[in-house]
Amino acid sequence: MFVKSLILSVALASAVSGKEFRLSEIKHLFSFGDSYTDTGFNPNGTLAGPTLSNPLGNPVFPGFTSSGGENWVGFLIDTFNITRLFSYNFAFSGATLDSSLATPFSPTVVSVRNQIQEEFIPGLGQKPASVPWTSENSLFAIFDGINDVLNIDGNPNQTAAQEPFFTLYTTLVNQLFDVGARNFLFVGVPAIDLTPFVMEQGPNNPALAKASLELWNTNVQTVAANLRRAHPDVTTHFANMETLFREIVAHPELVGISNSSDLWFNTLHPVPAVHKAMARTIADVLLFP
Ligand SMILES: *[C@@H]1O[C@H](CO)[C@@H](O)[C@H](O)[C@H]1NC(C)=O
Ligand SMILES: *[C@@H]1O[C@H](CO)[C@@H](O)[C@H](O)[C@H]1NC(C)=O
Ligand SMILES: *[C@@H]1O[C@H](CO)[C@@H](O)[C@H](O)[C@H]1NC(C)=O
Ligand SMILES: *[C@@H]1O[C@H](CO)[C@@H](O)[C@H](O)[C@H]1NC(C)=O
Repeated sequence: MFVKSLILSVALASAVSGKEFRLSEIKHLFSFGDSYTDTGFNPNGTLAGPTLSNPLGNPVFPGFTSSGGENWVGFLIDTFNITRLFSYNFAFSGATLDSSLATPFSPTVVSVRNQIQEEFIPGLGQKPASVPWTSENSLFAIFDGINDVLNIDGNPNQTAAQEPFFTLYTTLVNQLFDVGARNFLFVGVPAIDLTPFVMEQGPNNPALAKASLELWNTNVQTVAANLRRAHPDVTTHFANMETLFREIVAHPELVGISNSSDLWFNTLHPVPAVHKAMARTIADVLLFP
């Protein structure tokens, strides 16, 4: 039942270009995002580069995560990997797409924009000899929107509220393309309307968050479709985390948990069992586009 229901999510979720994508050729995973993705990687740290003994580079696997254990990056590179996959994870807890569009909880938070423009592009984006990534052997994952949606979901005109975010999103994806990114994974915003954090804010909030995240996920898929149209040598994948979270909350036994209140490590963040299902869904989307 688990496999069947995940395959349903995949069927609803994946979108691919004409170009063939082979996960078996991917050796490098570059990721950008927030606390759902953050593993505490410091690109300047000692032993920054991933190794066979620690595919995260630093810190010690599974890194510093928001789940109390492994997160989806760890499971993807360690459990659902079909090759040795090295991770370069720029995600930062609390990140929004751009701190000036959606103010993060602290000014020290590194936005996805800065992860890409100030950390990745001037560094690994220049293809240093130490990290032999190529367009063919690399996958670029963007998992953003949770903090953005929580920031803007009270705006009555979501179309207008999200416009500047997706203008920037398109720019960022094109900047990654310009330094050689060709294979993209977009991870959709999960059903955060079901988190204790949103439910505790009062009865209207889940509906606002749901409407906002659904438009956000549609907008992400439009960015992906436009990118494929502009560049026939690009592949894109979309992992539908909204559907997955609704299935898991309705049937926590699918991830081996009997009471749905035990799905959450804290009010906004799920436990490792949920991250494992996320990684499995992502691997399915990548393997069976
Ligand atoms: C890494 O080094 C660069 C260049 O010295 C610096 O701008 C950046 O802030 C450093 N990043 C971290 C996470 O320490
Ligand atoms: C998956 O990654 C782990 C950790 O790097 C590694 O031990 C394992 O051999 C990899 N699996 C495959 C099929 O390459
Ligand atoms: C919402 O914003 C869009 C785009 O800016 C605009 O076209 C539309 O008229 C607005 N809708 C309302 C109800 O104000
Ligand atoms: C689930 O856990 C919550 C919090 O611990 C508890 O209040 C509730 O009674 C539990 N539900 C069931 C069906 O056991």
